[in-house]
Amino acid sequence: MVSNIRFVAQEQLEHCLQLFSQSLKPALYGGLFVILCASLLFTGWIKRNKPVLRRATSPDLEKPTTKKVNTFKAPGRPPGVWTPVDFKRPDPEPYPDWDVHRTNPLPYRPFKHGPYHITMGLRTMHWDDWIELDNHYLKFHADKTRRIEERGVTHCRTAPEAMDGAIELLEELCDYLPQRYPTLYQKTEVGMDNLVTNESFNIIQRPLPEDPMQTCARLVQDDLAIMFERPDGQYYLLAGAILLAGFWRLGDKFGMPLSEIHTSGDVPGFKTKLEKGMMNFFRRVQPNGPVLRNNYFLQVDDELAWSSSIGPEDGDHTQAVGWDTAKKNKAIEHHYFRSERQSLRRLPRSGGVVFTIRTYFEPITAIAKEPGVPGRLASAVRSWGDDVAKYKGRERYQDVLLEYLDEQHRQQVEKGVVSEDYAQEDEGRKYPY
Ligand code: HEM
Repeated sequence: MVSNIRFVAQEQLEHCLQLFSQSLKPALYGGLFVILCASLLFTGWIKRNKPVLRRATSPDLEKPTTKKVNTFKAPGRPPGVWTPVDFKRPDPEPYPDWDVHRTNPLPYRPFKHGPYHITMGLRTMHWDDWIELDNHYLKFHADKTRRIEERGVTHCRTAPEAMDGAIELLEELCDYLPQRYPTLYQKTEVGMDNLVTNESFNIIQRPLPEDPMQTCARLVQDDLAIMFERPDGQYYLLAGAILLAGFWRLGDKFGMPLSEIHTSGDVPGFKTKLEKGMMNFFRRVQPNGPVLRNNYFLQVDDELAWSSSIGPEDGDHTQAVGWDTAKKNKAIEHHYFRSERQSLRRLPRSGGVVFTIRTYFEPITAIAKEPGVPGRLASAVRSWGDDVAKYKGRERYQDVLLEYLDEQHRQQVEKGVVSEDYAQEDEGRKYPY
């Protein structure tokens, strides 16, 4: 009897537990589901609200950006059509203590310890720094004057469709230069006067006395080019004053689109690393977004205007000029450092994109005296890839150049002028100096 009662009680207990667990199951699962959702929401909230450490970076001009960097909105315009925009370049400050005899060229040394990467290398330009003049101005001016006389249209030329852009560039220079270099240029009713050479420029008379690109060339040390977009979306070289470029001739490239200018010169990495970014840049650049880039070359003669080691300037234009013709391993005194500081800006009225090329030119033996330069330059030259080395003619000068730079570097280390630790050497150095 007692065992019977126990059995019934046990049965009832099991039944109750079964009922209880069945009724609890949905509640248990539901509870678990609610906890899971809550924890997911909570982690998301924490992630969103967690303070993020952001490094301050300057904009990468080689990547398209969604941020509004320019106050202008890129006009949605058909290729080849430019509507003038109401933009006035900010007035520059006068260059501090500028003097045509005393102001030294800026010491651009745009190379670093390897490895070497091919990039467009664009950086934002401050308007004050558009044109750089220094105590080499009178030499550059004399060289240009002589070459305009000797060579005229082959080196300075404006296509009829580019005439308004060339005149706009001339007007811009006559506005900027007297503000930036008031001891050299003075604004007049009709243009400006050069207070040192006593030239007077009347830019409102018509016809103009010469091609406006020739006049522009006389005003600055830079070589100048203006690119214009055509309905095919390509940018063409339609105005230029290229008098001191050293390695290329306007006559060979005039009228060419940007890509052909570079591919015809076998610019290393152009198709793979430069072309797309360059096209994007030209399409998007606005009048208020000027940029700069620097480069450098080595040359085995002392000729600024045309490096005759690579062939005669007046040779047949179908005949390629190139490093193959240069004499190998000349003495170090014949090695020169050539560096360009280039600017690019869009002219607001004509829409032409102005390309300025300012060349800095010095003997290797002079720059190798500067602390850190021989070590850094030797490392840079060694780090060029085969294509860059071929383009820059390394095989023709590397033995003499590198032996000399290594020795200068060794002496600098011995005297304690520089450390052998590259990282320490590069610390605090700001490109492109
Ligand atoms: C975003 C703009 C540009 C970039 C990134 C660029 C890039 C380059 C590079 C990397 C080279 C090889 C030498 C060097 O390292 O500088 C080069 C050469 C050259 N570039 Fe450009 N370039 C630009 C605009 C222009 C423009 C507007 C012209 C118009 C005249 C031009 C004409 C040349 C010429 C003539 C050469 C020499 C080609 C040769 O050796 O025959 N470039 N450019």
